[in-house]
Amino acid sequence: MSTRIRIENLTKNYGRVSALDNFSLEVDPGEFMVLLGPSGCGKTTAVRCIAGLSDPSSGAIYIGDQLVNGLPPRDRDIAMVFQNYALYPHMSVYDNIAFPLKMRKESKGNIRDKVEKISKLLEISQLIDRKPKELSGGQMQRVALGRALVREPKVFLMDEPLSNLDAKMRAYMRTEIKKLQKKVGITTIYITHDQIEAMSMADRIAIMDRGLIQQVGTPQEVYSKPSNTFVAGFIGSPPMNFLECEVSHSNSHLHIEISGSLVKSASDALRKVFDRLYRKEELPAKVTIGIRPRDIIIGGDRLHSDLIMECVLSFIEMLGDDTVLEVNIGKNSMKVLTSSMPTVIQQDTPVDQHVLIGISHEKLHFFTSPTGIRREYVADEIP
Ligand SMILES: Nc1ncnc2c1ncn2[C@@H]1O[C@H](COP(=O)(O)OP(=O)(O)OP(=O)(O)O)[C@@H](O)[C@H]1O
Ligand SMILES: [Mg+2]
Repeated sequence: MSTRIRIENLTKNYGRVSALDNFSLEVDPGEFMVLLGPSGCGKTTAVRCIAGLSDPSSGAIYIGDQLVNGLPPRDRDIAMVFQNYALYPHMSVYDNIAFPLKMRKESKGNIRDKVEKISKLLEISQLIDRKPKELSGGQMQRVALGRALVREPKVFLMDEPLSNLDAKMRAYMRTEIKKLQKKVGITTIYITHDQIEAMSMADRIAIMDRGLIQQVGTPQEVYSKPSNTFVAGFIGSPPMNFLECEVSHSNSHLHIEISGSLVKSASDALRKVFDRLYRKEELPAKVTIGIRPRDIIIGGDRLHSDLIMECVLSFIEMLGDDTVLEVNIGKNSMKVLTSSMPTVIQQDTPVDQHVLIGISHEKLHFFTSPTGIRREYVADEIP
């Protein structure tokens, strides 16, 4: 039996700082919702308001059908795990996990059953008699999770719970947390500023910037259809490349200028895309084109490219499996991600050589300039 969370127009001001600005979000029962955004965008403020640790300036918070504004934290039936999960140092693992149940004055037998069940689930049964200082970081983290889970709360709030762990342990724990959440089915809001963590754990992601929600969607949706340039640039690594583009026409011909130079080699399909986007528009119009580093074809293979541009290679970064190339086109620099080193690159003197790059029209993202809002066209209209 899971609980829905509904947040309506939450605003929180600290003096003149607006930490949350009309923040609205609905989390489905049993859903794993990730709040993702840069430092200072309001993530912690949002969950502190949900938990009752902070009072919103305005707005409504519903847990299930209950309006919880004004309700003290202990009456909200929420468990929260913070970045700095303080365990009680003088207590054993068992007593740490049992603590919230003892506070609720549950019977000894009941407490023992619940602590054993949770310890088994988290694979810490063998550590039950140890003190926190005898545990590794990852083990402490699991004890903290156990202490939160044992209460069987209606809602789970986690604020960057993995940020103190090393990379390997983080990767392991994020899989564990996700599995655990699916097993117990408790509605969860999980905060991170790490987009890979968000993509790999979330049922849906809410991306925030400066106190505002920018987009809510599945990892696939926010990656393939980012609603604006902020989301587009925030999700994906290396980030999406952006090129300023001007569309105009003369003698019923469409002119496309990218980074100040006229595009000569554009396929019919690409021209049709621009036509779909701009036929009802007053021209000239400015548009920002977004291209993911993975979607660029070095060498400009004519079969798969609708747009071919000449660039200068400026930097090569080897990442083991992948290679990142930096290319300059006019004043702009772009990143290209390839799995193998393209044969057209001269290995001995790679930098400063001229290369062609190509992109399929299906891989281009369009954003109105300067608002940065995504523009869509109906893809099946294009041959
Ligand atoms: N108690 C406070 N008094 C004044 N300003 C605050 C207070 N708490 C937070 N803020 C401000 O509100 C904004 C949002 O802060 P918040 O802690 O919610 O960000 P965050 O998204 O959790 O960032 P981080 O990723 O760094 O943890 C920031 O500009 C912050 O400086
Ligand atoms: Mg925070």
